Amino acid sequence: MSKTKRAISFSGFESWRAHIKDSLIENTDVMFVPTMGALHEGHGDLIRAARKMADANGQAHVVVSIFINPTQFDDPSDFQSYPATPEQDVLLVERAGADAVVFPTVLEMYPQGVPDAADPVGFGALTDSLEGAKRKGHFDGVVAVVRNLMEQVGPRWAFFGEKDWQQLAVIKKLVAHEFEGVTIVPVPTRRELDGLAMSSRNRRLSGSHRARANALYQVLVQVAESTDPIAACPIAAAELESLGFTVEYLSVVNGDSLEPTWVPGKMRVFVAARLGGVRLIDNVACLM
Ligand code: PAJ
Repeated sequence: MSKTKRAISFSGFESWRAHIKDSLIENTDVMFVPTMGALHEGHGDLIRAARKMADANGQAHVVVSIFINPTQFDDPSDFQSYPATPEQDVLLVERAGADAVVFPTVLEMYPQGVPDAADPVGFGALTDSLEGAKRKGHFDGVVAVVRNLMEQVGPRWAFFGEKDWQQLAVIKKLVAHEFEGVTIVPVPTRRELDGLAMSSRNRRLSGSHRARANALYQVLVQVAESTDPIAACPIAAAELESLGFTVEYLSVVNGDSLEPTWVPGKMRVFVAARLGGVRLIDNVACLM
């Protein structure tokens, strides 16, 4: 007998809800892992963390969603070329121990049609700095889709990766405002052996770019361990540029507020850079 638990794949929330009802588990706590697919072991870690918590909780249902959300892409070509690997995704979800994987329909996510831009969200530096400044409307799209997903799923716990630290901070704020009773569980960044943070975008790197891409993590660690991280940023950025990266930002900010206010123990280094046209982001905690 196969050791992998069978996740059940649903082409929309309607059929998932019918399943929940038929299985008499409507009132079971839900652990939720929202994703855009092209899954890798970083996503696997989120699902495994949810499975572990579900098992410890006795009765809980682990649900993964896969939806490539058009409104969070500031660049239409990035949306068009975003990898879609649904068959492999279902296998990974099953292996990682989820109970269900839902592929929401566009109509479920955007009943009024996909807007050109999602409603603006003003969470100050959380939405306006770094990724928010470089990718106009990105967090508006993330908030719009996560709000809808939360409404559809009604989770007790939802799992998000520290790889997208700023997104995690935005979601924590959204949930604190609008989803009382939902707990956000952060999951550490899963890295390749050479340090590169796992990302669905990594598969678009050419061989030679992939071989160099771990420099991103190396410079983050250099800055994070420096005695003057702020002064170390421009030096590290120049190093990345010399390796062929185009740096969008390399900054040290407070990980809670995303503002530059220095609070010992709270500072993180954030980077976004392009390599061969592939946009990569990462972040680590400062030692000081
Ligand atoms: P996606 O990029 O598919 O990521 C889904 C979740 O996996 C996010 O919480 C992300 O932070 C986490 N993740 C990605 N790479 C990771 C890694 N290497 N280690 C740990 N966690 C990792 O983030 C999104 O989708 C979307 O914005 C979404 C929240 C689903 C809204 O559309």
